[in-house]
Amino acid sequence: MWFSKQISAPEPKQPFFAWSSEEHSVGIRVFDQEHQRLVALMSQVHIALMEKHDRTLALERLEFLIAQARSHFDHEEGVMGNIEFAERDAHMAEHTALIEQANALLQKVQNGSLSALAISAFLKDWLSHMQILDRKYVATMRRHGLR
Ligand SMILES: [Fe+2]
Ligand SMILES: [Fe+2]
Repeated sequence: MWFSKQISAPEPKQPFFAWSSEEHSVGIRVFDQEHQRLVALMSQVHIALMEKHDRTLALERLEFLIAQARSHFDHEEGVMGNIEFAERDAHMAEHTALIEQANALLQKVQNGSLSALAISAFLKDWLSHMQILDRKYVATMRRHGLR
């Protein structure tokens, strides 16, 4: 059976959203934990859509995710205020934009003008914007002794 050797074991299914320290860690423990939690909530949205095929549940989870993201952003903004981070206003404006984009997506899916299937791709992009943005505060926070 020469061909049996050619058949490799199926690849383990890669989760659509998975936390990776190398890729996602900003090196500030409390924010890494919060980011990790947001990534887990993104997975929950994706699972509701792709495994449970439950649009209502996906939208509920998306709403919850947006609320949790807002409180995470508030937390970051508070810490930035405490250390007088020079780019705080710009970072806050980016946070506001991220929340607005997510709410706009939620609304479009709710009113049927956009397929719920667009949510996961949006969230992937949303997450990478968050990560890129947050790298900007790391050096300053670490200088202030935050770990
Ligand atoms: Fe963040
Ligand atoms: Fe941020």
